[in-house]
Amino acid sequence: MKIMNNKKRVIAPSILSADFMHLEGEIKAVENAGCDMLHLDIMDGHFVPNITFGPFIIKQINEITDLPLDVHLMIENPSRWIDAYVEAGADIITIHTEACTHIHRAVQYIKSMGIKASVSLNPATNTTAIEYIAEDLDMVLVMSVNPGFGGQKYIKNVDRKIKYLDELRKKNSYNYLIEVDGGVNTENVDYLSDLGVDVFVAGSAVFKSENYSQTIKTLKNKRQKQEF
Ligand code: DX5
Ligand code: ZN
Repeated sequence: MKIMNNKKRVIAPSILSADFMHLEGEIKAVENAGCDMLHLDIMDGHFVPNITFGPFIIKQINEITDLPLDVHLMIENPSRWIDAYVEAGADIITIHTEACTHIHRAVQYIKSMGIKASVSLNPATNTTAIEYIAEDLDMVLVMSVNPGFGGQKYIKNVDRKIKYLDELRKKNSYNYLIEVDGGVNTENVDYLSDLGVDVFVAGSAVFKSENYSQTIKTLKNKRQKQEF
């Protein structure tokens, strides 16, 4: 599964902000609006102060869309659940460094299942947490809000973490994509792209907008130098 075709921005709407009473329609709407994959936020009420949905919803989503499924595990002890999300149809699985004791083993295991392996860093977590697995990763998910909720504001000092990860991969020829997750919108998308971001999670920016196609098109193509 190609996550991205060279340097095109990848837009991954998070369904956390979608209307769950009309979930199939919402997914079809963003698919038809030209998004590149679906970002699925799994929350257990322990690792983060919120609870969302589990593998059986992912399985049903997988049956109604061809979009790659970008599964973000905000759960304690994620290793215990990798098989279930692979079976449900995940194409990418992101686990949190802060929630996983044996992260090297977990990353190897995800890859052994033929799934893209991604690791997430909360806003206060240092990039040193991924230093010894960076070469194995398909993606690094940089949390730009404190995990648990959509509709929060981008945390500005995450900028330098994104810049560092971009320099690190260039210096060492690592292949991981950089995904930013939280507070992404049409105002800051260009700025984030200039920092080195490849994959843009956008929950409220998309699902709370009037016109999903217009929003996704702007997220993909807007280009003007701006501070935000
Ligand atoms: C937060 C989730 C994010 C969130 C993004 O814990 O990981 O994916 O849904 O929502 P917005 O784009 O509204 O900040
Ligand atoms: Zn997320």
